[in-house]
Amino acid sequence: MEAVTRNIFLYLSKSSILNTLAQKRGSSLVSGKIIAGTDFRQSIPVIRELNQKGLSTTVDHLGEFVSKPETAIQRTKEAIQTIEMIRKENLVSHMSVKMTSLGLDISDDLVISNMIKILETAEEHDVMITIDMEDETRCGKTLDLFKQFKSQYSCVSTVLQAYLYRTEQDLKDLRPLDPFLRLVKGAYKEPPSVAFPDKKDVDAQYKKLIEQSLTYGLYTAVATHDDQMIEYTKELTERLNIPKDRFEFQMLFGMRNQTQLELAKQGYHVRVYVPYGRDWYGYFMRRLAERPANISFAFKGLFKK
Ligand code: FDA
Repeated sequence: MEAVTRNIFLYLSKSSILNTLAQKRGSSLVSGKIIAGTDFRQSIPVIRELNQKGLSTTVDHLGEFVSKPETAIQRTKEAIQTIEMIRKENLVSHMSVKMTSLGLDISDDLVISNMIKILETAEEHDVMITIDMEDETRCGKTLDLFKQFKSQYSCVSTVLQAYLYRTEQDLKDLRPLDPFLRLVKGAYKEPPSVAFPDKKDVDAQYKKLIEQSLTYGLYTAVATHDDQMIEYTKELTERLNIPKDRFEFQMLFGMRNQTQLELAKQGYHVRVYVPYGRDWYGYFMRRLAERPANISFAFKGLFKK
């Protein structure tokens, strides 16, 4: 049953009609709950408050699967402004980007030139840019581009997804570049030909990758809300004598707020992924697919007068 619900939400996450409707009608429903605001300015006080509580952030301007070059160019300009504002406002924050919002599906030249503009600004302002990982069909291309960027810029990092069979090899291939890596279980609907279909296998693989990444000496961001994985990371790093400045926990804005604070109090570095923008629908549906209970407040809100 859980798998059926997950598949329905992941299927709906691709609907452009619902996406347009959500942008027009529903932003206020999720603003301040799972997204920080509809634009970056609105999100600044939210980020500052998290920083004041000892939590770092990575901000994400929501939006993906862009098909028009002018939209990708506009998104690049906005990303550059966000980096400049992070520095101007003295925020303790990285920025996350999705390559499909910068032209990945349009042309290599476009996405590369957009990313270079972003990375030049990021290098100048000392802001780390993490390239989020999208669905499996784009994974190879994303990693190839990441390797290219990483050879020129130190301020770029990326994400590996435990549910993909290919990831163990990808981790080995990335090792010589000494990247800052975010490890996640994986959020997209993938066929069993490319991804472990059973959750228990994904969990086992996730633990294996955490251990490999840490023993390779890579700075590892363990991005999960799962207590089992958090406890595993704590025990592992103690056993292997890995200092707390070689890894961090990451969680999504609005999820497990108490746990985020407790970990920070225990001296762990915690980074909150803070999405903002009007294009929240796909992100929202993937969160529903993961754990409908997380966002039951949104449905309650729907029926409020
Ligand atoms: P999972 O969904 O496996 O749940 C395991 C258990 O954890 C649950 O049974 C429950 O007990 C507990 N739990 C989970 N969520 C909870 C909650 N909110 N409250 C209380 N308990 C909870 N994916 C991707 O494909 N590409 C990407 O770039 C990213 N980026 C990213 C950044 C960050 C910061 C995070 C946290 C996640 C991502 N993801 C992602 C999403 C990721 O792949 C994954 O889909 C979700 O994190 C859900 O998996 P979890 O490991 O959190 O727990």
